[in-house]
Amino acid sequence: MTKNIINARVTFKKSPIHVLERFSLGDSENAYKSFKDHTGLSECVILQTCNRVEIFGSGNNFDREEIKKTWASLSGLEENSFNDNLEWSQNSDVYEHLLKLTSGLDSMVVGEEQIMTQIKDSIQSAKKLKVSGESLNTLFDKAIRVGTRVRTSTGISKGSISVGSMAVKLAEENVDEMKSKKILLIGTGEAATLVAKSLKKRGYPFFISSRTVERSTSFSKTVGGEPVDFNSILTGFENYDIVFVATTAPYFLVTFERIQKALETKHSGMMILDLSNPRTVDEKVAELRGIKLMNIDQIAEMVDKNMRSRIGQKNSAEEIIKEELPVLEATMKRLEAEPIVKDVFKSTDAIRVKELEKAFSMLGELNDSQKKIIEELTKSVAENIMSTPMNNLRKETEHGNSDVINAASKLFNFKKEEN
Ligand SMILES: NC(=O)c1ccc[n+]([C@@H]2O[C@H](COP(=O)([O-])OP(=O)(O)OC[C@H]3O[C@@H](n4cnc5c(N)ncnc54)[C@H](OP(=O)(O)O)[C@@H]3O)[C@@H](O)[C@H]2O)c1
Repeated sequence: MTKNIINARVTFKKSPIHVLERFSLGDSENAYKSFKDHTGLSECVILQTCNRVEIFGSGNNFDREEIKKTWASLSGLEENSFNDNLEWSQNSDVYEHLLKLTSGLDSMVVGEEQIMTQIKDSIQSAKKLKVSGESLNTLFDKAIRVGTRVRTSTGISKGSISVGSMAVKLAEENVDEMKSKKILLIGTGEAATLVAKSLKKRGYPFFISSRTVERSTSFSKTVGGEPVDFNSILTGFENYDIVFVATTAPYFLVTFERIQKALETKHSGMMILDLSNPRTVDEKVAELRGIKLMNIDQIAEMVDKNMRSRIGQKNSAEEIIKEELPVLEATMKRLEAEPIVKDVFKSTDAIRVKELEKAFSMLGELNDSQKKIIEELTKSVAENIMSTPMNNLRKETEHGNSDVINAASKLFNFKKEEN
């Protein structure tokens, strides 16, 4: 039976980030165990980032309903939550999807580099846990190679701008003499890190604050910024000119009342950039004098415009994927032939060794060089006889001729292990 490759995913394309977060599978090791135990998948790779939760699987007879059920139980969701969010692909469509992912074409910020690292980490951890096997390892290794080719030959990653850099760029465009302004960054997660890196790169000093003191202190050491107490910033917005907010707080941190109070003593304007989704800055603050507010939708729209200006690179990247996809398809199909090819070579060699030993004992005293000549002769005969049919078997499988696999299995008494 042919092995199928499947991909089930919930991504930012169909689901807003706050919805997407609910589909998280939690601890990957535990998730891998559940998928392998309950779904019929023989191989599995999980990719979880802030923009996507994806399962790549391989097997002879997996059950889509069981995959959904297992996912629902891991994330604590009702199965019907998947109706509007879950997408499925199989075989060639999975290969194309993964090539787009490694090339950065499926990212919120087209060409961004982070996804490549996340994919490499996912396959590495699956290999380490021995939950992936020949199919998914080959697929991921090839897709990473194609993604690297796309990035080096099209320059799609150059000039791409992260949400964090775009937020800083927008602040620069709206505030004069930014270097002299007091900048505050609230949040110490992934999004805040993107802002911090961009501020640092452009040489802007900033204050960093997080609900958890330890997080702002360690963020300050590893990424940058001067840590400030969380409660003091909430009651002291008058001390800052530019505020970036990137947290997952389920309520407004920057409220109308807090900014209104700040403006009693602050006489210059303030720019607030809210990267959070859902919002953590009350939109009403924009009604206050001197307050300029930009939210994640406006920031993401600017990122999208930047992407559209790089449409030429996107087209070249798509061309490379179009060229590489059939090569990858052939490689994946060829894998079908590998178990039988390996098995045939192994049994041929076992016969060769057995007969060789028999011959040596019949020939009596032989020196090492004579033994070597006879041994090389047996190897060469076995290889010459078997390599043509085995290469033909590989070629036919590449072209999708599974009848040849069935015929070869019968001819060589090959029994494929289920899963
Ligand atoms: N990651 C991205 O690339 C990206 C891109 C665009 C937009 N966003 C949006 O940016 C926001 C942050 O995402 P993230 O990926 O950076 O999340 P994250 O890595 O999980 O970090 C979450 C941050 O939120 C803080 N936080 C959580 N609950 C809080 C609360 N009740 N009060 C105050 N702070 C709280 C955490 O600080 P403590 O641990 O100290 O509480 C931490 O700094 C989200 O709304 C997300 O949708 C993210």
